Amino acid sequence: MRLDRLTPDTSGMPYPLLTERLTIEPMTMRDLASFVTYRQDPEIARYQSWEPTFSTQQGEKLITAQEGVLLPSPGEWLQLAIHDRTTGELLGDLAVHAIAVTERSFEIGFTLAQPHQGKGIAREATQRLLEFLFTEADAQAVRASCDRRNAPSVALLDALGFRARPTEGWVESFKGEKVSVDVFEITSKDGIVENVVTRL
Ligand SMILES: CC(C)(COP(=O)(O)OP(=O)(O)OC[C@H]1O[C@@H](n2cnc3c(N)ncnc32)[C@H](O)[C@@H]1OP(=O)(O)O)[C@@H](O)C(=O)NCCC(=O)NCCS
Repeated sequence: MRLDRLTPDTSGMPYPLLTERLTIEPMTMRDLASFVTYRQDPEIARYQSWEPTFSTQQGEKLITAQEGVLLPSPGEWLQLAIHDRTTGELLGDLAVHAIAVTERSFEIGFTLAQPHQGKGIAREATQRLLEFLFTEADAQAVRASCDRRNAPSVALLDALGFRARPTEGWVESFKGEKVSVDVFEITSKDGIVENVVTRL
């Protein structure tokens, strides 16, 4: 399926993506307060592009800019909310970036509020997102990059079947430190790792 066919008027709503414990859908204003709260947590911001000073206005701007978007246009990002399927609580988010050079490659990121870490939630959500990107958005490759020191992220990517691309990493100055960024990729040929997700 081409990205431009994933619009509400031609293909119906692909969201929410469902897993056993979660629903996943584009973030809306109902998520704003919880989203801003965990973005202000210094531990959550540590390896991320934003600062703990992330404000309600910045959150509003981000959510407003993606209203009605089901998949990002090349070069753009889309923030997906991860909700508890039973309570509707916002647990964290997934970010999807359509890599500009090709419509069929995506980059992803993931964030969970601290109380929801260590429960396999990021893995369950990201695996469902990968399934969506490979089966419904015609993705050929999905990438992620992360600070080498971010052990939980590296463990998550490894568990999901991503492979390191050692020649593509880089060193940069980030938040006052010199850091190594590693690049990981999973392709449609790799097959998605079978694990905790129940297809519903
Ligand atoms: C990266 C991040 C999302 C990973 O979250 P996480 O909860 O550790 O990831 P997972 O969903 O894979 O959970 C794995 C843990 O849950 C445990 N777990 C419990 N139940 C589980 C289940 N049903 N299935 C799988 N794992 C389960 C695992 O044992 C593992 O715990 P361990 O780390 O103590 O070994 C989280 O650390 C985060 O939000 N960090 C801050 C933001 C950030 O840096 N994002 C990445 C930028 S590149």
